Amino acid sequence: MSWNQLTIDVPDDLIDAVVGVVSADGVAGVWETHAPRIGLTRLVLYFTPRSNLDKVETTVRSIFQRADRPAPSISRAVVEECDWTEEWKKSYTSFPIADSFFVIPSWENSICPNDRLPIRIDPGQAFGTGTHETTQMTMDCLERWVERSQIVLDVGTGSGILAIASRLLGAKRVLACDIDAIAVQVARANIVRNAEADVYAFCGSLDAVSNDSVDLLLANLTADLIMGLFPEFERVLRMHGIAILSGILREQDEDIRETVALHHFNVFEEITQGEWLALIVEKHGG
Ligand SMILES: C[S@@+](CC[C@H](N)C(=O)[O-])C[C@H]1O[C@@H](n2cnc3c(N)ncnc32)[C@H](O)[C@@H]1O
Repeated sequence: MSWNQLTIDVPDDLIDAVVGVVSADGVAGVWETHAPRIGLTRLVLYFTPRSNLDKVETTVRSIFQRADRPAPSISRAVVEECDWTEEWKKSYTSFPIADSFFVIPSWENSICPNDRLPIRIDPGQAFGTGTHETTQMTMDCLERWVERSQIVLDVGTGSGILAIASRLLGAKRVLACDIDAIAVQVARANIVRNAEADVYAFCGSLDAVSNDSVDLLLANLTADLIMGLFPEFERVLRMHGIAILSGILREQDEDIRETVALHHFNVFEEITQGEWLALIVEKHGG
């Protein structure tokens, strides 16, 4: 079988809108990869031969127009069916992340530099390759805030990358949860792959965690999810416990800060990368 392929370089803040409309137009697959310019992501979109590509192009162009951006150049190609997983694997190779780590895809035999700790990952269907800014910012913060005596809770663990990093940095015990059962399977396999003891992944969320039991909470989610879950963050964190909040768009800064203050947390630090923001907050309890 052959597929119609459209390739478009999209400003990072328009990705969700473009993916939204192409999903409504029956896209069969979306591959996000690096574009030649910072601030852009290359979207490679696959459609069946029967799809109306002219209509898709018009809808995509209208998003750019409404956002007052120059019209994108869209290239078309016809590609033959192949093993997409194998193709994707070629683009995911080992790389350093934060100051301490070196991510190695599980199918690669790369040698980890002496001054870094290896994390072997097969992300499967889960989020958490380590290439996303929001994961990278959380890793940066984690390096500075994790302590040996701590119980860490990784909310929305995805591939388990942050949970594994927490333990490698010396956290005493790590709980990792995700509401997606497939992500939990992936995280468990990665935890075993990295031979990490005292990292427990479970399917579910904060309601399975006791009151005042967590020293450091990691939440690389979305602003809406973080705001909705904040009463639970407050409940499970010990007094003076720390939460690293990521997955927040810069424009959502004020909303998040309002929620943080409402629940008696202080903001210690704010870091940004591209359009993304991460906050380090402390529970002070009123
Ligand atoms: C952006 S991914 C983060 C993956 C990984 N922690 C990272 O930083 O790369 C967010 C994950 O949160 C999970 N999730 C969404 N809502 C959740 C909730 N209420 N409780 C637990 N996990 C949740 C999703 O299934 C997804 O795997």
